[in-house]
Amino acid sequence: MIDDRLKSGDFTERDEPYRLFAEWLEDAGQSEPNDPNAVALATVDADGMPNVRMVLLKGFDERGFVFYTNFESAKGREILGARKAAMCFHWKSLRRQVRVRGPVEQVSDEEADAYYASRPRGSRIGAWASKQSRPLESRFALEKAVAEYTARYAIGAIPRPDHWSGFRILPQTIEFWHDRPFRLHDRVVFSRSADGGWQTKRLYP
Ligand SMILES: Cc1cc2nc3c(=O)[nH]c(=O)nc-3n(C[C@H](O)[C@H](O)[C@H](O)COP(=O)(O)O)c2cc1C
Repeated sequence: MIDDRLKSGDFTERDEPYRLFAEWLEDAGQSEPNDPNAVALATVDADGMPNVRMVLLKGFDERGFVFYTNFESAKGREILGARKAAMCFHWKSLRRQVRVRGPVEQVSDEEADAYYASRPRGSRIGAWASKQSRPLESRFALEKAVAEYTARYAIGAIPRPDHWSGFRILPQTIEFWHDRPFRLHDRVVFSRSADGGWQTKRLYP
């Protein structure tokens, strides 16, 4: 059941959805077998055709939800075109779902550099070697690219590629869903109000 704060209907604090999200993500960290931060990311292409795939949430605060990717990938081009996206977390072990929708901004270079530097060396090389979402003639071609970049950056720091960075979804809505018996689930949606605060309402399941 969604916790008592949600039941009380007292949802006016600006950061309230993020505190609840943090609690749910922490719970997922205890109960999910792996990747509690895995999330389905939905985008739309230039023809209005939807697209969806998993990414890993790498940060969130009162500004929004951050993930990293190749900006020349399908999702990168779709987001740079439409400037909006949606996310859906589903934690099976908790029977909980969180949905996020909103415009998207690019994270700062400093933020992207800091996260890139924290990644394992192999992942930093991979960011150079993978032309994500473009045709790959063979597995060997990818391994060759990895070997070439490994040799190129054998000594010293591996710079972050210009095409690799983070996006932040700036939520207009964040919806919390929790399974209840007989499909009479709890649904509570937080919507950004004009003053930058949050308005909250329940939805029929
Ligand atoms: C659990 C999981 C986590 C993933 N995390 C990321 C991620 O954080 N960033 C990313 O670019 N791709 C990630 N991927 C790969 C994407 O799902 C996708 O295959 C890839 O980004 C290409 O998508 P696109 O062609 O729609 O751009 C992940 C896949 C899985 C299954």
